[in-house]
Amino acid sequence: MPDRNTREAQEHRLPVACQTTAGQQHSEALLVQLLLDFVLGLSRFSPLLKKRESLFSERFHSISTSAASASKSPPQCPTHLQGLRDSAPLIAQILLRARFPHPPSKSSSSFAVPLSLCGLMGSRDDDGQSTEVQGYAADINSIREAQARIAPYVHKTPVLTSTSIDTVAGKQLFFKCECFQKAGAFKIRGASNSIFALDDDQASKGVVTHSSGNHAAAAVALAAKLRGIPAYIVIPKNAPACKVENVKRYGGRVIWSEANMESRESIARRVQEETGAVLIHPFNDKYTISGQGTVSLELLEQVPEIDTIIVPISGGGLISGVALAAKAINPSIRILAAEPKGADDSAQSKAAGRIIKLATTDTIADGLRAFLGDLTWPVVRDLVDDIIVVDDNAIVEAMKMCYETLKVAVEPSGAIGLAAALSDEFKQSSAWHESSKIGIIVSGGNVDLRVLWDSLYK
Ligand SMILES: Cc1ncc(COP(=O)(O)O)c(C=O)c1O
Repeated sequence: MPDRNTREAQEHRLPVACQTTAGQQHSEALLVQLLLDFVLGLSRFSPLLKKRESLFSERFHSISTSAASASKSPPQCPTHLQGLRDSAPLIAQILLRARFPHPPSKSSSSFAVPLSLCGLMGSRDDDGQSTEVQGYAADINSIREAQARIAPYVHKTPVLTSTSIDTVAGKQLFFKCECFQKAGAFKIRGASNSIFALDDDQASKGVVTHSSGNHAAAAVALAAKLRGIPAYIVIPKNAPACKVENVKRYGGRVIWSEANMESRESIARRVQEETGAVLIHPFNDKYTISGQGTVSLELLEQVPEIDTIIVPISGGGLISGVALAAKAINPSIRILAAEPKGADDSAQSKAAGRIIKLATTDTIADGLRAFLGDLTWPVVRDLVDDIIVVDDNAIVEAMKMCYETLKVAVEPSGAIGLAAALSDEFKQSSAWHESSKIGIIVSGGNVDLRVLWDSLYK
């Protein structure tokens, strides 16, 4: 049995031409050619591009309709074309964007074609040889798989609305309340997807994490408990007692480290070597990203008319999953990240076009202090329309509003989406005037009561 890394590497590698019927190969070849044209910038405005576009849509239409007439059920795509079908709207958006670029982002960076969204990850060298192009870590198919895998273990969280808050915001807001999720945050989605995707042999050795986030630690401990396997949670010596209690409550085995990243990582590695446990990364992992993406699948099932989603950003696992799912379902949907001023590495990364890591961070939003990883950065770079940076006062005001008006206790990292929606930058920017129905991911509710109390009476 290949290990998880080998399995992932294999999953990332898809040949350009699959074993299909001639017609299907033809449509795939057209699509690949279209995308290659775009990547190479050869035919932006060419009549050839138009012709290929219309050929592709005709071909795609005929696949759907012939499948529909063959059965009374709704049109089904052959399995190997599922990704292509789900990605068809996105492909249309890529083509439209190529012609009518609309960058709401002040920091718009290079526009990369998300080949993996199409389930097609091949390109050609000048000499015509096939080479590999690495796509995104997850896609709509892996997110749908995650949804099915984790359904027994997570809550379908409610969406709340408030006319009073809408009046202040000048928009209709839909609060996706992951603060009511198991273990108090969306994190259980990614953790349970990662842990339940392990085969029995891997799982029997247990899992390990060194995340400093309360949520990741509690989520991994809980998901491991649900799977009935050991969870080794590396926790820095200065961690708050309530966090340690949470981990223990879910049966996690606490292993102490010094209060720095080197110590945490090296101890986690030692645990891996000694026990064979699998590392569950809090954000930079295909299964974690896919699990987090189920938030937006659910949200768009609950409120399909949403045109914009605001998502807190830290390591980028949540926003990557949300963006990959949402844009595959509705390519015109816009994704806005919300980030604290004292840890605005993602906004700086977007502006610089590369991952920026900060020497220090300083924010009340304790869940938002990590930096992007190599799997989350490409999604943030390409699919996140903009990042709004808000200060801690705005976060506290949003927490108050959640408590006083929505009647929900939200942690600072979970309130930041509302803070962004209420910010002058968002309200006054013409780029966001068209956004009228906005999903706000209220990502967690694990608020330290003292923080909530202090913020209410500040
Ligand atoms: C409550 C909460 N919201 C948002 C995030 C950010 O998630 P990500 O690191 O996937 O960007 C975290 C991360 O720990 C979190 O705990």
